[in-house]
Amino acid sequence: MKGLILSGGRGTRLRPLTYTAAKQLVPVANKPIIYYVVENLASAGIRDIGVIISPETGGDVKKALGRGERWGVRFEYILQQEPLGLAHAVKVARGYLGDSPFVMYLGDNLIGCGIRDFVEKLDETRSDAVILLKPVPNPSSFGVAEIDGKGRILRLVEKPKDPPSNLALVGVYVFRPSIHDAIDEIRPSARGELEITDAIQRLIERGGRVHSHIVEEWWLDTGKKDDLLVANTVVLDDLIKRRIEGEVDENSTVTGRVELEKGVKVINSVLRGPIAVGEGTVIEDSFVGPFTSIGSSVRIEGSAIEHCVILDGAVISHVERLEDSIVGRNARVHRNRERHKALRLMIGDDSDVEL
Ligand code: TTP
Repeated sequence: MKGLILSGGRGTRLRPLTYTAAKQLVPVANKPIIYYVVENLASAGIRDIGVIISPETGGDVKKALGRGERWGVRFEYILQQEPLGLAHAVKVARGYLGDSPFVMYLGDNLIGCGIRDFVEKLDETRSDAVILLKPVPNPSSFGVAEIDGKGRILRLVEKPKDPPSNLALVGVYVFRPSIHDAIDEIRPSARGELEITDAIQRLIERGGRVHSHIVEEWWLDTGKKDDLLVANTVVLDDLIKRRIEGEVDENSTVTGRVELEKGVKVINSVLRGPIAVGEGTVIEDSFVGPFTSIGSSVRIEGSAIEHCVILDGAVISHVERLEDSIVGRNARVHRNRERHKALRLMIGDDSDVEL
């Protein structure tokens, strides 16, 4: 069994962060999203992993993942010149995948469980594919599956007005090589992409057997700002333990599950977990509330922040209250202390500022 991580794409919904970084490298609880993906594949015993990369962000993805020793896996990087769809990515990887069955994992999806049982279902059910499903309250926004009483997929529909079930397709799939023939038979959709849902539907029409597996735990697609904040909240809640390696002075209180890396300084401040703080960050005269991730070498002074993701090198200075926000690398948010208050902004393209 091989793995295929999709780490290409444009990431337009997460601009401006994705102008300078791959979406899959954006941190959740201070760890790049793609690391969770690799860990999950590795713990299911998958050692050979192809990584689809784009010309724009492929270099950074390679740098962040390396050759794979760190996880005991071997990466092979596969360039997809243009993001022409999930099934197109499989087509580009065909030479690497050969005749092997494989797990395809979207590089921006996080799930709160292992995938071993799901992968084993391919042989157990003697299927051509197994797809992961999750009940959602708003199925019309997703690819939706209709299944029979035994969990076999009858039909897949993309963003249906009248959904046949509440089961959305999660971004993890197990395929046998028969998927390649199905992909060869599909055409690009109205949005110009080779859709994996169309390929799976084709597989069913060709008489292939497609089974499902339902995720009981959380599933997070980190493609947009609010999704990323939710992912951060869920992962901090689930995974963070109290670990204080930085310095906390006697005028500060740090309560609950707070992770302070080496070189962190907390001065005259109150921190209430769950919070993760990266190396070398300084927090002074401030309040940091729950569900906040703060990267490395950040400076927070005279401010109150809660439910935020602050990336490396950012500065937050004298901001009365910052909530539900994502602050990019080396960005500065600081109060204008003049009497005639005017807003002074230098904001990157596609930013979103709520005043
Ligand atoms: P999407 O989130 O569907 O697409 P995107 O990354 O282009 O984002 P946006 O819609 O905001 O512009 O992609 C899901 C995952 O698959 C993501 O990790 C990127 C990856 N991907 C590829 O590797 N190749 C592709 O051709 C596409 C469409 C996506």
